[in-house]
Amino acid sequence: MKTLFERTTLGPLRLRNRLVRSATWEAMADEEGRPTPRLIVAYRDLAYGRVGLIITSATTFMADATHPPRMLAIRDDTYIPAYRDLVNVVHREGTPIIMQLVFPGKNGVMWTPADATGDDIRQVVAEFGRAAVRAQVAGFDGVQVHAAHGYFTSQFLNVRRNTRTDEYGGPVENRTRILREIVQEIRQKTGDTYPVLVKINCSDFEENDGVWDACQSVCRDLADLGICAIEVSGGISKTPFPPPGLPYDESIFRDYATELARITNVPVILVGVNRTPAVMTELLNTRGIELFSLSRPFLRQPDLARFWEKNPDRPAECSSCDACRNQPDGNVCPFREDPVRNTCGIE
Ligand SMILES: Cc1cc2nc3c(=O)[nH]c(=O)nc-3n(C[C@H](O)[C@H](O)[C@H](O)COP(=O)(O)O)c2cc1C
Repeated sequence: MKTLFERTTLGPLRLRNRLVRSATWEAMADEEGRPTPRLIVAYRDLAYGRVGLIITSATTFMADATHPPRMLAIRDDTYIPAYRDLVNVVHREGTPIIMQLVFPGKNGVMWTPADATGDDIRQVVAEFGRAAVRAQVAGFDGVQVHAAHGYFTSQFLNVRRNTRTDEYGGPVENRTRILREIVQEIRQKTGDTYPVLVKINCSDFEENDGVWDACQSVCRDLADLGICAIEVSGGISKTPFPPPGLPYDESIFRDYATELARITNVPVILVGVNRTPAVMTELLNTRGIELFSLSRPFLRQPDLARFWEKNPDRPAECSSCDACRNQPDGNVCPFREDPVRNTCGIE
């Protein structure tokens, strides 16, 4: 029987357990998107808390990219030293760390597929590659392409939101093209062994959105391109989460993740209301899902993995109330008694 707390591997990465911190916008970067000491402490706390793998918050990378407040950015090489510091702090605890890359839009506007010319798309693809190289030089153990939650790249999969009539719109083959191109570009620029992950929506939960078909198709393609892991999410930001009508209260996208694990030969990470070790352990042993990622519970309990090692019968304290979203002083859990436990001496 497999357990959540056994050592495992993800491509070339060695993980101390099967728990992953899913990308979480902390809103603690500085105005230019560089990591602050406070943010580095938050990552150090996660690593000290013995999570198996950390995925950074979504990180923008183009000079004129739309940039939500105090979100991370890696716009050019001058950002690399600050990220080296962050990576070193996490690695000192023996935890691998992946940078999530996102393209939300440009000049303060969130883009839809219809906003981009063919040249814009080629530029976005090329810039994903350059950003991945910067992440690699900074010491990150891999990158994750954010293709979930209705951001630009995610919308291409949705037949209702992607109204293009060129080679990026219409049939599944076209709607999934941008994702294939981004992954190919990153692999070409970073080398065949550098881990590339994708976070993807199984569904946007809009009527006849066509996302599930496109998701299955592109996950097969990305498996052939040598992707390291697929993180399965769902729904659109700023709409109710979890999307109504799902059959489970916990581990809500489990059926989609099971199917993706079946049809691809790639490790699947399940995200979305994972709260109970016993539920995750059962899914691990019966569904072919290899890893479980959590976001809000780590805002409440950064040392959750360490806690669960000793208390596997206790659910996470997070009640999924969402009070952690859009807090004025960073996206922290207001119910956490000990908001910053500066144990690593960073001022
Ligand atoms: C405050 C906050 C910020 C988030 N930021 C990101 C992000 O930057 N990138 C991303 O892919 N998902 C982001 N998410 C979504 C989470 O990664 C995760 O998919 C979702 O919260 C469901 O997991 P949970 O039930 O464990 O919280 C964010 C969620 C929260 C609550």
